[in-house]
Amino acid sequence: ADLTALNTLGLHAQADFLYRLRGPDDLLALQADPALSALPRYVLGGGSNLVLPARVPGVVLKVEVPGREIIAEDADAIYVRAGGGENWHDFVQWTLAHGLAGLENLALIPGTVGAAPIQNIGAYGVEVKDTLHAVHALDLVSGAPRVFHRDECAFAYRDSVFKQAEAGRWVIVAVEFRLPKVPTLHTGYGDIERELATLGLAATPQNVAQAVISVRRKKLPDPAQIGNAGSFFKNPIVPVALRDGLLPQWPELVSYPAGEGKAKLAAGWLIERAGWKGKRIGPVGMYEKQALVLVNHGGAMRDDVNAVVAQVQRDVYDRFGVQLEAEPVFW
Ligand code: EPU
Repeated sequence: ADLTALNTLGLHAQADFLYRLRGPDDLLALQADPALSALPRYVLGGGSNLVLPARVPGVVLKVEVPGREIIAEDADAIYVRAGGGENWHDFVQWTLAHGLAGLENLALIPGTVGAAPIQNIGAYGVEVKDTLHAVHALDLVSGAPRVFHRDECAFAYRDSVFKQAEAGRWVIVAVEFRLPKVPTLHTGYGDIERELATLGLAATPQNVAQAVISVRRKKLPDPAQIGNAGSFFKNPIVPVALRDGLLPQWPELVSYPAGEGKAKLAAGWLIERAGWKGKRIGPVGMYEKQALVLVNHGGAMRDDVNAVVAQVQRDVYDRFGVQLEAEPVFW
């Protein structure tokens, strides 16, 4: 099966088998199929945080579990559940249409609901962990269900147990959120405040989503136009001593506090200053409007991506002594 249209980077890739998973029964059916049951399994969501090899040897499970519903309520919050296969942005819009707040800063992030907890998606001062309540998963091999409460997910910046200790073991079939009845808006992130003012909008959940959408459209390439996987590197967290050592030479260095003795640097800034904004090697390069986004100008394979990744890492390291870590999952 051709996966080229199923990954937003648009890398050319072939899977031996593609299997659509609409519910737990499909995993049991796969288990019962002697031609497929022993093959390695890979879980595919929206394919928006993924770097594929030319051939994926095994069964790719495309999660298509549907559903969006309000499931419970307590004094302070409404609980909602969405199927792992639902489009993330459509789900965010659905919550807002139901008068529910908490996900507005995460509008327009590509991908599926089931993929959102894996890298703890985040934008404009909010992360999915802030409102996530529980993750419903199936053991990829046995099909046995397990519920991960938020405390069991080891959420951190662009990270979770599903990328670490439990990587490759689970397929996420549904996610539950606890959305507060009294919204706390996060407009502090510079761009959003400015955009609300520019658009002449009051700070409401719906309007924050609109401002986020507007900012993202200006900065981030639409995968339908130009292949990309969003931010390609994590913003590196370094000892403050390293940052302080850079400041004399680079007074405009962008950094944020990141806990005791640590600072988070803006990878996009480092990559731009290393000369990579808008630069390319063959079909792959770093985006001209946001140096943190790796783009496929057409026809790229994984090796083309790896060549650019290695060179960007080397150039940033040579200039700043900072090691950049790729954000997407590599199969
Ligand atoms: N910057 C540059 N040059 C660039 C890009 C950025 O100098 O080419 C500077 C900006 O001027 C700014 C700083 O770097 O001072 C940070 O840039 P921005 O606010 O655009 O955010 P980011 O750190 O590049 C992160 C997330 C995005 C998220 C935005 C907004 C990561 C790896 N990326 O990007 O998430 O949308 O903040 O919250 O944390 C994603 O993960 O795929 C993603 C798009």
